[in-house]
Amino acid sequence: MSHSSTPVPLTASASSALRGHVRVPGDKSISHRSLMLGTLAVGETTISGLLEGADVLATAETMRALGARIERDENGIWHVHGVGVGGLMEPAAALDFGNSGTGARLCLGMVGTHPIAVTAVGDASLSRRPMGRVLGPLRRMGTEVVARAGDRLPLSIRGAETPIPIEYRLPIASAQVKSAILLAALNTQGTTTVFEPTATRDHTERMLKGFGAAIEVEPDQNGGRVIRIHGPVELKPQDVAVPADPSSAAFLIIASLIIPGSEISIDNVMLNPTRTGLFDTLIEMGADLTISNRRLSGGEPVGDITVRSSRLRGVTVPASRAPSMIDEYPALSVAAAFAEGETVMEGLAELRVKESDRLAAVAAGLVANGVDHHAGPDWLTIRGRTAPIGGGVVETHLDHRIAMAFLVMGLAADKPVTVDDTTMIMTSFPEFRSLMTSLGAVFSEAELPGTRR
Ligand code: S3P
Repeated sequence: MSHSSTPVPLTASASSALRGHVRVPGDKSISHRSLMLGTLAVGETTISGLLEGADVLATAETMRALGARIERDENGIWHVHGVGVGGLMEPAAALDFGNSGTGARLCLGMVGTHPIAVTAVGDASLSRRPMGRVLGPLRRMGTEVVARAGDRLPLSIRGAETPIPIEYRLPIASAQVKSAILLAALNTQGTTTVFEPTATRDHTERMLKGFGAAIEVEPDQNGGRVIRIHGPVELKPQDVAVPADPSSAAFLIIASLIIPGSEISIDNVMLNPTRTGLFDTLIEMGADLTISNRRLSGGEPVGDITVRSSRLRGVTVPASRAPSMIDEYPALSVAAAFAEGETVMEGLAELRVKESDRLAAVAAGLVANGVDHHAGPDWLTIRGRTAPIGGGVVETHLDHRIAMAFLVMGLAADKPVTVDDTTMIMTSFPEFRSLMTSLGAVFSEAELPGTRR
């Protein structure tokens, strides 16, 4: 789905205490992967709790175009009738990944070792994001790539006839690159090995094990991992239950921390340690955040979170923690704006190539709302509560997390905060506004010059 709709600005204003017990939608990473592995299994995979956001719906569409039969029943369960590893069909038209880097990069891995031709397109944001990071290893596996200068979308690939197993050391901490190679390895004869110097989200590895793949994961002494997968692989269909997305829960949690008197609970949040860096950081900042009922669900740790408003203090977030909270820096920046003292965030280079240049977009949003901060090439420092906060209009640059983060800021700020567009929130968290409103958040329609509908 490409973004062509009219921007919908929104204003968030100081709200009274948030209260309630809620569920947030399914995890985006696991939702994409469950559709893809369901497609690569032979037989019927069922998925409950799938995130029905635009990014994941775009992946469902691309999997259909590659031959899977995918239906949603009246109870909200998704049924994926897979074609099996080796069975992907050549799509009749270009695959449109909309705003989704995960959809595009993982799917390029899947098709890169099937002898079919595929053209990949995306929206303006996705078309600016680097694809060379997956095309490099895929080329070594035998994928032919016809790309415009710079390896950006739109691009076309022809998958390898006889894929070559590779040993690959990830030059950047990226679960998308790792996953693209692992998915390519499924249809590759021999052992493909990926070394990751820093552990990144490991949902692909966990899910591949669940679907019956021969995959070994070995931790090294420095916090990295060696992953070996032996192909070709036959995947067995599974019943997948998708837990709630901690990256979406983050916005509710931070809103509750900074709005005095708040107390909310969120059920069944995924707590894979490769995703919980934000929660560790918030607890160091003094957050009253408790996790109960810890359990395993479908190979992933989950638990229920209760959070109460808290006096936060600034901390230093080391670069080594970045992979486990890479999507959470916009939200953390808002928490830091309300904390006492300075918060230092290091190792942020990858933020520059997300749905927007998130470091620049956060910094500009902080400027617009009077928050004392300094930004460098890969770091950000924020000094909280030095002046009244709010009153600004934030440019969201087709980035859902920039929109949600600054709306959360407005709920606790001295003056309202307006974001220039909320349409992209539907990519990851379509229920954001209604859920926040049900907890007590105050939003109002905004009209900016040139955005009249
Ligand atoms: C994701 C990996 C991360 C993350 C993205 C989802 C995934 O991207 O930012 O939202 O599902 O594998 P990178 O691999 O680029 O770090």
